[in-house]
Amino acid sequence: MVKIFLNGCCGRMGKAIAGMCKGNPDFKVVAGCDVITSEELAFPVFQNPTECDVEFDAIVDFSNAKAVPMITEFAVASGKPFVCCTTALSDETVAEILEASKKIPVFKSANMSYGMNVLFELVRQATKALFPDSDIEIVEAHHNRKLDAPSGTALMIADVISEETNNQLRYVYDRHSESHAREKNELGISSIRGGNIIGEHEVMFISDEEIVKISHSARSRDVFAKGALTAAAFLVNKAPGYYSMQDIVAEAFK
Ligand SMILES: NC(=O)c1ccc[n+]([C@@H]2O[C@H](COP(=O)([O-])OP(=O)(O)OC[C@H]3O[C@@H](n4cnc5c(N)ncnc54)[C@H](O)[C@@H]3O)[C@@H](O)[C@H]2O)c1
Repeated sequence: MVKIFLNGCCGRMGKAIAGMCKGNPDFKVVAGCDVITSEELAFPVFQNPTECDVEFDAIVDFSNAKAVPMITEFAVASGKPFVCCTTALSDETVAEILEASKKIPVFKSANMSYGMNVLFELVRQATKALFPDSDIEIVEAHHNRKLDAPSGTALMIADVISEETNNQLRYVYDRHSESHAREKNELGISSIRGGNIIGEHEVMFISDEEIVKISHSARSRDVFAKGALTAAAFLVNKAPGYYSMQDIVAEAFK
């Protein structure tokens, strides 16, 4: 059983992880950390990770970008594997995490969904086969409370396509500011916001004769919780280093 220290345990993702661990023989949340408290939780919650006096095997973090430097420092001091899922990190924080990975195993993915990471690989293959004959467009949809657009995941997909096309494509965000015919070197990225959509991403490879579509639809936050727990189990007993969901997906594609 992997014993988890959960940073950001009172948030939406923290609660999804705690729910998934309840009665689970493979994972147990033994302690959490948050700046707020929640009476629903069945484990001790500390306001500062350094107050934790409970033994654990791995740290899982779904908190806030400002909280990540402190939890990274705590992870290094504790010598335990660190799964960092918080997004919108500054370049400085990303550099600190990279530095930490020289001392402890670190797993970082801005999208912890296994299926989405399989999509990255499928998009890579499709780009090789279908570009430049096809124009490539990405469309993403999320709930009406999301602050950023396009989604970080749409940008990750765009970066995969960019890598496969020798970085020759120009990202075009929506099309309201473009009043000219589509150019060959464009990669369109469009965003839709509404209701309670958890996360929809579609990549279209459009030629004159046909359209190939590769899409992913997140049906619940549990998909990210499951990925984070898989990552924690993957990291236990690993050597220090920087790992991501691509390492797990690569195993499946062998
Ligand atoms: N990598 C992924 O696949 C993935 C998936 C979903 C969400 N996320 C990211 O995870 C993060 C959390 O998402 P969420 O939806 O649970 O947000 P949320 O706002 O519901 O929860 C964040 C929690 O972190 C707590 N927190 C804030 N500062 C803290 C600190 N200093 N120490 C400890 N806890 C602190 C908050 O009080 C809150 O309870 C966001 O950055 C989000 O973008 C990543």
